[in-house]
Amino acid sequence: MRSLGARLALAVLLAVLGALLLAPLRAAVSPGSAPTALAFDAAERARIGELGPWPPAVPRDASNRVSGHRSAIAFGEVLFHSARLSSVGGLRCASCHEPWRSFTDARALGLGAAQGGRNTMSLLNVGLQHEFGWDGANDSLWAQSIRPLLDPREMRMSPAQAAALLRDDPQLAALYQRAFGSAPSGDDDAVLADIGKALAAYEETLVSERTPFDAFRDAIASGDRIAAARYPIDAQRGLRVFAGAGQCVACHGGANFSDGRFHRSRIASMLPDGEPDSGRRAGAQHLLASRFNLLGRFNDDARRTTAAATRDAAADIARSGEFRTPSLRDVAATGPFMHDGSVANLCDAIAPHASMQASDPVELSLAQRRDVVAFLRSLSVEPQPPHVDAAVFRCR
Ligand code: HEC
Ligand code: HEC
Repeated sequence: MRSLGARLALAVLLAVLGALLLAPLRAAVSPGSAPTALAFDAAERARIGELGPWPPAVPRDASNRVSGHRSAIAFGEVLFHSARLSSVGGLRCASCHEPWRSFTDARALGLGAAQGGRNTMSLLNVGLQHEFGWDGANDSLWAQSIRPLLDPREMRMSPAQAAALLRDDPQLAALYQRAFGSAPSGDDDAVLADIGKALAAYEETLVSERTPFDAFRDAIASGDRIAAARYPIDAQRGLRVFAGAGQCVACHGGANFSDGRFHRSRIASMLPDGEPDSGRRAGAQHLLASRFNLLGRFNDDARRTTAAATRDAAADIARSGEFRTPSLRDVAATGPFMHDGSVANLCDAIAPHASMQASDPVELSLAQRRDVVAFLRSLSVEPQPPHVDAAVFRCR
């Protein structure tokens, strides 16, 4: 038998514990003390559900025989950080795709051996895309990864130089052997394609983290109102515009906030040679002419089912001025924005854009744009990434 004193002490302890456990719950659900969840209707909940779940399974690439292989991923990571793949002192993939800046460079335009004409894209979630670059100039991640090596404005290598490096450098040759099961061959283009394939295997592993939005999306899907109420109310209002009146999901839909397709941009830009950037038109022309496209001899998918988009690319030569919809995951960290980096402020990036769908133009009010910016910031782990100036998020 326990004494009365002991029983009293136990009761007090239980009461204190209970109060401690319930306090955060009450704060979350009581009106006024903390944000609550908006009442999203069934259609809205369905549209929100389509923006996840996250993280997704990144599919293996059938055109790349080392996609998903650990030894190739390790080799690709070494290549990604190696300055030896460049004829320009010190330049590496990671110089422009800086890991700590969400794999971009915070410049308007890429700067390698010379000034480029396009904004450096983030590499996060790139394994979910099917056509690469702002203009889809390549139909595989491995062919896109060769592009900067050969580009005279970027790393400025020849296929012979790159292949010789792999044959002659003992460390790189050993990593190649482990990843591909044989020593580099005498075929320069084949060795170059394999460099691209190891880089691609690594890049497929670059998946962005779960964000406050993902927690909210899952809470809506499971009907957990307490978890849903933790998501900031302005982000909830912004999400409602994004998935509703703003029609943003027409292009920025799905778990990666990108349809992977090309759309007319309202931004007309010039390339360094003074010619207008024709976007998808130039991309389709490059793709069809490339000996590294998926119709060529380096595609490891013998049946060429991966080359469907390549067969259709000729029709895209008519699509001048179109660019691929960028993913909006981690967009708070990846400015400046747009294919030419001409927009520094995230709120401005939404403004001209609102009327992009020419058939049914949408103009957002200042208050709506503020809310959409709050929503877009919830697509990052931190709404205020440490390397980004707060002015990027100001709406005027
Ligand atoms: C000089 C800066 C620079 C360097 C160095 C560089 N890139 Fe890029 N990267 C860019 C730019 C600019 C784009 C956009 C290209 C375009 O669309 O015209 C891009 C686009 C990409 C894309 C397309 C992403 C997508 O979503 O479609 C991939 C993949 C990529 N780079 C991988 C690499 C790899 C791998 C290396 C090293 C071998 C590399 N990059 C080196 C600037 C650079
Ligand atoms: C018709 C398709 C389409 C619609 C609708 C659309 N976008 Fe876009 N969005 C694009 C394309 C294409 C680009 C790239 C344009 C360029 O680079 O010139 C883009 C770029 C952006 C960017 C810059 C991202 C970056 O990394 O550079 C943001 C932010 C953005 N859109 C947000 C929105 C919001 C918010 C809405 C709804 C109000 C919206 N978009 C509606 C296709 C669309």
